[in-house]
Amino acid sequence: MEYNVSKLTSNLYLLRFKDTRTKYFEGLWEIPEGIMYNSYVYTGNEGAIIFDTWKIGLGNEFLEALRNIVDLGDVRYVVVHHMEPDHSGILKTLVEKADPIVLGHPLVKNMAESFYSVSMKFRPVKDGEEIVFDDEKIIFHHTPWLHWPETIMSYITSGKILLTCDAFGSYGVFKEVWADELSGEDYERYLWYAKKYFANVIGIHYEWVVKNLEKLVSRGVTPNLVLPSHGLLLRGDPLDYMYKKYMSWGHGEPERGKTLLIYTSMYGFVERTVKIIREYFSGLNQDIDIIGFTDSNRPNISDVIGEAFDAENIILASATYDADLYPLMKHIASLITRKTPREKKVAIIAQYGWGGKAGKILEEIMNTQGFKVVGVVEFKAGEEEKYRDKIIGLIESLKK
Ligand SMILES: [Fe+2]
Ligand SMILES: [Fe+2]
Repeated sequence: MEYNVSKLTSNLYLLRFKDTRTKYFEGLWEIPEGIMYNSYVYTGNEGAIIFDTWKIGLGNEFLEALRNIVDLGDVRYVVVHHMEPDHSGILKTLVEKADPIVLGHPLVKNMAESFYSVSMKFRPVKDGEEIVFDDEKIIFHHTPWLHWPETIMSYITSGKILLTCDAFGSYGVFKEVWADELSGEDYERYLWYAKKYFANVIGIHYEWVVKNLEKLVSRGVTPNLVLPSHGLLLRGDPLDYMYKKYMSWGHGEPERGKTLLIYTSMYGFVERTVKIIREYFSGLNQDIDIIGFTDSNRPNISDVIGEAFDAENIILASATYDADLYPLMKHIASLITRKTPREKKVAIIAQYGWGGKAGKILEEIMNTQGFKVVGVVEFKAGEEEKYRDKIIGLIESLKK
């Protein structure tokens, strides 16, 4: 747990907190890679503007970091891009110590008063409203559902700098400030964290990415620098790449040919079926990503959703439990239906000891959410060889 202060331009600073203590982001997503909170401070003759803060509970650290740049008394504005407490967590402290004008979406006032019992000088900003501060024009754009309805972005016009809040963020703790300072495996790791973060956090609202980015373009927002509130900062090639990726994810486009198999196996019977599928794919010389939950292996569900987001086809293979769908599979399936695009094809395999039920339940979960279930093969544990042709037939129907 530490923080850094970095100078980005002649008057813009990054205050970054590296959080390696939070095990479950949003109390839900496993993040062994950690997460960073980025706050930005603009300074000038008129004082300072703070854009977003850090997670709730880090007030002392935030004030300590801020003192490296400005006196608290010089803070004129605090811009709240988003009320989620990983960014608004120090708002009350700042209001009490510096009494700034708080700028944000009209929804912010009520939420802040409720979340933090704070009374503040609040000024709501309209979509497209601008302020001039120290001869710098800053425009606020409403960007709903990235990732809450009150989310806004700030555009510092002279440097074409877009502060994007959660959008373009990523998990992971890095010593580098910019994504273009990474190369090779480190850069690949960053790209994976960015995709996983997108799927976990923004995934449910993926269609809003396109609406918001197109709106920004139509308003002439073509940033040279993109500064998100998590992860590494973007410029140059990584910025171009991530912009294209966001448009692609926003359109729900899968990675062509990517098949993901997720299975739960209590005593190894489902794993025997997985072996058949693995052999089938290796016989075709095709890749398949396989994630298994067993009595010795418990993958991170955050990773599963990260992988599922851009899969073209998904195979779900599950055990039965208490005459119901295996609980972990139920949880994963419901997250897939919430967080990933619905155009995927899904093949279902279920196995049981006494009676078949899990397959139908899993099919219903996926079907009611609009996923295309190509078929269900369900059989008693231990009978996978008898069902080999049906299993292969089911997998082949994913390609039709
Ligand atoms: Fe958020
Ligand atoms: Fe966030």
